[in-house]
Order: sequence, then structure tokens, then C-alpha cells
Amino acid sequence: MNAPDLIEDEYLGHYRRATETGAQWWRVTVADRPETYRLEHGVDEGDRPGAVDMDLVVDAENLRAKLKKWRREGFAMQSADAAGETSASAADRLAFMPELQRAAALASAAKHRQREEHETSVRIGHVDVRCGVDNPLVPRINPAYLFSMRFNDILEDIVENRRVMLIGHTGAGKTSLIEQVAARSHHGVLRSNMNGQTTVGDFVGFWTVKGGETLWVDGVLPTAMREGLWLIVDEIDFAEPSILAALTAVLEPHGRLVLKEKGNEIVAPHPSFRLFATANAVGAMSQFRHLYQGANLMNEAFLDRWRVYLLDYLSPAEETDVLIRTLAPHMTRALAATLAAIAADCRAAFAREDLSSAFSTRRLLDWAELMLRTGDPERAAGPAIYAKVSPEDAALIRGIIRHHIAPAG
Ligand SMILES: Nc1ncnc2c1ncn2[C@@H]1O[C@H](COP(=O)(O)OP(=O)(O)O)[C@@H](O)[C@H]1O
Ligand SMILES: [Mg+2]
Repeated sequence: MNAPDLIEDEYLGHYRRATETGAQWWRVTVADRPETYRLEHGVDEGDRPGAVDMDLVVDAENLRAKLKKWRREGFAMQSADAAGETSASAADRLAFMPELQRAAALASAAKHRQREEHETSVRIGHVDVRCGVDNPLVPRINPAYLFSMRFNDILEDIVENRRVMLIGHTGAGKTSLIEQVAARSHHGVLRSNMNGQTTVGDFVGFWTVKGGETLWVDGVLPTAMREGLWLIVDEIDFAEPSILAALTAVLEPHGRLVLKEKGNEIVAPHPSFRLFATANAVGAMSQFRHLYQGANLMNEAFLDRWRVYLLDYLSPAEETDVLIRTLAPHMTRALAATLAAIAADCRAAFAREDLSSAFSTRRLLDWAELMLRTGDPERAAGPAIYAKVSPEDAALIRGIIRHHIAPAG
């Protein structure tokens, strides 16, 4: 295949043909992108110059085809001399301001973008996340937190203001991922757990009487929307239908909330508002539903309004790193690797249903910390693990630990 020839500058210019009532013209200029051309069309009535009524961008090959067609149709190129001052300037005069306005808008947008990137964003993983304003709801940074490369897509979605649902076993790191992104980008976070007593009043708002006055109190959803906070709806698979109904409207991009109870007041989302959900037993996690008693199936139409990510536990290598970082300088790599392997074995037993309790990174960190204090894994496992699970589970976990750690000689 031949490389397309460069279109010579001589092709740029005006092409006109007379009509019964005036003239029809095409104007060819260089477009923004390399090797593309802008074609503008208009019709002049008598001496009255017409506005551009067609505006397209084509590549070189396309332009050559057009030139051929125009020639066939009787368009002739107007040389600067032949065009004469009046006709050449008529179209140019009209075209100048729209073109300038477009160029100015592009320039201003580029400058704006540059300024934003420069001043108020922070790089997390591979993604620049726009910073919010510090406030008491900004979570604390966990310096040991590990951003896995797997999280980059989720970060992109946060930047694009997508609704993100994280699904995975308890303690896999769903909530902390969002909190740690918020901590680093200075966004306040509200959490609302659906596996408890959260009512639609808590969530959307309610009327109350205070000092003889009736007052409306915003729930967490309108509060987060108005104030540009990040709202995490935890364990959404336990939410009441009325809460899901309130959420559905807000799941659309720029979706507004209608407070029916408050005379249909409309709450528009602040640009910083973000909405997240976490769930244990939804979608790809439905196979584990029996482990999460009482979780509701979520219908696909509802799930389709979210980007749903399955968050697995950290890999043993990642968890080893987190142990070392969290418990530096005393936690050695060899110790950490063994503890991470124990956690992985417990999780495998949980997935097989041999164990009825999940083994979270939090539990592992707590056990490790206590072990460094006591010098005794078994003693440390008492308050960190055994006392929290059934005797059967404790016995099984004790077996897994003994499999990895020989008793002191
Ligand atoms: N990527 C990570 N880096 C460091 N620690 C983590 C990471 N993921 C999870 N953890 C630890 O595990 C704990 C439990 O995670 P959490 O987000 O509460 O889980 P979930 O919301 O899935 O139940 C966190 O508090 C944190 O200490
Ligand atoms: Mg959580």
C-alpha cells in the first residue's frame, strides 16, 4: 500500500460554483489533528454571504475524493486574485469569529486541565486522582496500605465518577481500599452499613420536632451528595428495598435525588460526590451466599448500574509485604511469609466450608502484632483468633498453625 501523499497547501482554499440565486462554496482548511482537513460548506444568497451549514473533518484520502467530486460538480477553486476582495473575504469574515471562539475554548480547556493536574491531584497507582478539601471526615492514611496494580481500573472509575461496587469476602479489603484512596486524595467519607438497623430515614432523611419546631434532617445520602463526600454503602446486599429504590436514581451519572418526604426537594450531586457499595455475596460471589446468612440477591438491572469488581484477599506475597510494612522493624520476611501462608490456608478452608469463619487481613495483622509482644503464637491466637470463632473452627485453625510452626525446642 502506498503511503498517502501529503496534500499540498495548494489544495487549501475556497471552492465555489454559481447557483441560480447566488453561490455555493466549500472551504478547505487544516484541522487540529495532523493530516486531517476541515471542510466547511455554505450557500450565499445573492450578495448575502451564507453561514457555514456543514462542518466536517476528513483525512487526506477523503479530501482527494471530495476534490474530484467538486470538480465534476462544477466547483472551481478561487485563487486569491480571482476571488477578488469581496467574495474571498465574505466567507472568511463570517468564519473568523466562530473559529476563534473554538480555538479559544480549546486553549482555555487545555490550560484549565493543566492547572488542575498540576495543583490538586495526587498519583495513586497509575492514576491521577483529583484532591478534595481537607475536612474531619477524611480518613487517616494507613502508611502500610498496599495499592495493588489490580486496583488501577477501580481508581480510573473513581476519577470518571462511576458507581463502583466492590464484592469479596469479609476482610478482603473492600472498605479500606476506598478509604485509603480518599485519605490520600483528601475526600471525606461517610459509611452506612446495611446489615444492621439502617432505616430509610437514616439513609434519606426524616422530619423531627426540636424546640417546638419541625425540622428536616438529611440522611447520609443527601448529606454526601450536597457536601461532596464519598459514601460507602457497606453490605448493600442486606439493604431494604426502600433504600435500594432511593439509591437507584442516584446511580445514573449526575443522577439527582428527589426527597419525596420533603415536598419533592431535588438534591443535585456535588462534583466531588462519589458512591460506592460493598457486598459479600453478590454476582460472582453468589456461590458463597450460604456463608453470608440473610444476604439478598440483587437483580441484574440494579447491578448493571454499577461497575462491579471482585476483590480477592491479597496474595501471600502482598500480605507478606503488608505485615512487614505494618510491623516494621521487628517483623522479618521469614516470619511474615509463614504467617501469610497460614492465612492463605485458613481462607482455603473457609472457601471449602471446612471453616465457618473468614480470615481477614485485619485478623492476621492483629495476631502478628500480639505475637511480637508475647513471643508465643498460640497465646497470641487466643484473643486474636480462637476466642472469636467456634471451638471446631479454633481446633482446625490450631492444626493449620501447627502445620506451619513447629513448637519451640
Ligand atoms: N491492600 C492492603 N494493604 C494493607 N492492608 C490491607 C489491605 N487490604 C486490607 N488490609 C487490611 O485489612 C483490613 C480489613 O480490610 P477491610 O477493608 O475492612 O475489609 P472488608 O471491607 O473487605 O471487610 C484493613 O483494615 C487493613 O488493615
Ligand atoms: Mg468492609
